[in-house]
Amino acid sequence: MCGIVSYIGKKDPVPILLKGLRRLEYRGYDSSGIALLNEKTLHCIKRAGKVSDLESLIDDSPINGYCGIGHTRWATHGEPNDINSHPHLDHTKKIALVHNGIIENYDAIKEVLKSRGIPFTSDTDSEVLVQLISELYYNSNQKLSFEDAVRAALQEVVGAYGIVVLCEDEPGTMIAARMGSPLVLGVGEGEFLIGSDASPIVQYTRNVIYLDDNELVIINDDNYSISKIDSKNIVTKTLTRIDLTIEEIEKGEYPHFMLKEIHDQRHSISDTMRGRFNLNDGTTQLGGISDYFSNILLASRIYITACGTSWHAGLIGKHLIEEYARIPVHVEYASEFRYRNVIIDSNTILIAISQSGETADTLAAIRKAKELGAITLGICNVVGSTISRETDAGIFTHTGPEIGVASTKAFTAQLTILIMLALKLGRKKNVSKKRGKNLIRALRHIDQDVVSILKISHEVKEVAKHTYEADNFLYLGRGINFPIALEGALKLKEISYIHAEGYPAAEMKHGPIALIDKNMPVVCIAPQDESFSKILANIEEVKARKGIIITITDKINYSLKPLSDYILIIPNTHKHVFPITCSIILQMLAYELAVFRDCEIDQPRNLAKSVTVE
Ligand code: F6R
Repeated sequence: MCGIVSYIGKKDPVPILLKGLRRLEYRGYDSSGIALLNEKTLHCIKRAGKVSDLESLIDDSPINGYCGIGHTRWATHGEPNDINSHPHLDHTKKIALVHNGIIENYDAIKEVLKSRGIPFTSDTDSEVLVQLISELYYNSNQKLSFEDAVRAALQEVVGAYGIVVLCEDEPGTMIAARMGSPLVLGVGEGEFLIGSDASPIVQYTRNVIYLDDNELVIINDDNYSISKIDSKNIVTKTLTRIDLTIEEIEKGEYPHFMLKEIHDQRHSISDTMRGRFNLNDGTTQLGGISDYFSNILLASRIYITACGTSWHAGLIGKHLIEEYARIPVHVEYASEFRYRNVIIDSNTILIAISQSGETADTLAAIRKAKELGAITLGICNVVGSTISRETDAGIFTHTGPEIGVASTKAFTAQLTILIMLALKLGRKKNVSKKRGKNLIRALRHIDQDVVSILKISHEVKEVAKHTYEADNFLYLGRGINFPIALEGALKLKEISYIHAEGYPAAEMKHGPIALIDKNMPVVCIAPQDESFSKILANIEEVKARKGIIITITDKINYSLKPLSDYILIIPNTHKHVFPITCSIILQMLAYELAVFRDCEIDQPRNLAKSVTVE
């Protein structure tokens, strides 16, 4: 949520900042801006809209400097307009700041500063911070250095921040600090970058340091030092090498990142599984949790917590873990869990699922569970992310960077890990080797299954062509596929703005059936497993009310055909692998519907990829 990129070094910062902002645009795209320091002055240029709008502005009136900070915004306080865009300047126009997060006590500080005659121009909480730094630097009786003014200001604010600041009176110095919002320092040859993630950095250096909460980095010409915000004692941190490739963070030949990432699933699910099978023994190897494996086996209960799509993965995780390992699992939205009087003790395991590893509510839920004595495990995609570092142990999904705002390959990777975890636990309990081998065989076949699914994209397009004008969609599934109905509906809502609901198929008659008429497309998830006859009956109920039936199944079936207006047949697979393959066809359907509706697929309105505020 909001992207930050900063550069200090020997190169022209403008193209580096602009390219970085383009790479970060998935984190927010309400407005963008950059501030540059040259020998004498600070220049700031910013504008509401996309990074391309900022680029046109800079093309018309070029600016230069030797170091700079950039920001792409997802608005929290203040509407998305030019004035509320970052960077924000203090009233002397000598200090510039970019901020990701929320300053919770901004109102109180603003009142005090206003009473001292300091004029404000924006509605943002971020401007308060830069004005406070300025006040402490220029007007404090203690004659604070710039660094001390930044430290002092940060100790007055309450909330979450990742910030980078520049000051005209301290040329050659860049200060960044983190509390609750991620920041990564890139350490290159005679140059440094700071990003809210590694994507704007990787082209220039692979050596990075992940800042932790309450840390501040000062970059001075050729050196950097990291200390705590509230003490100048140096904190020694090790450089981490990131193995991200440029191809992974670019669209290549695809029109959208979402489509690229849907197609990536031909190999990304295998990447997630690589080296983690033990076929002979019908089990899996998950090294990241080995120290805590016996605790999981003996746990009295497991909580799974997450948000959005990752929460849907959690619902499937519950189904799998209860089925294979017979341990009770509770799945909770992290935003609810963090404020609830949850029942946790040292026999409780908390599994947090997060693609980004930075979601504020999920992180808060982990911290709460830890405080209450639970062992915390993470299932994360981003290596080095806060959640992966704060949990006691975890499993990386290794699906590669996911840039499209609507999660696709990260979801199927999460499901893959949950299957592997459930199987591993189950094999230590009563699940037979044969059952384990069957499941593994199906997983190992998944690359071919995905290829087959992608091959029917013309059929999916045809469904979209005839249904894209609908105002509402219903998604029905049963058992382990009910969360897939929820996920299919979420994908559609996010990128096509069609209202959609996921429902357990049998629940439909307790209310939503009232909505069904000849204009309502109903996506029916109908694998030919033991639930088939039940879902068939539910499809009949929709048919009787003239709903438009779009059936997803895994075998041609003669009772389904006459009932369905459209039928999409995906490869037959293990019933616990079907949620993965089924979610891919639903991703394709949402994508094609959004294409027909001419929506901004990679940058849906009001959304951002990584939700680092509460
Ligand atoms: C939907 C989507 C979101 C995320 C949610 C959690 O397509 O991407 O619902 O799943 O914001 O994000 P992570 O997994 O990064 O914690």
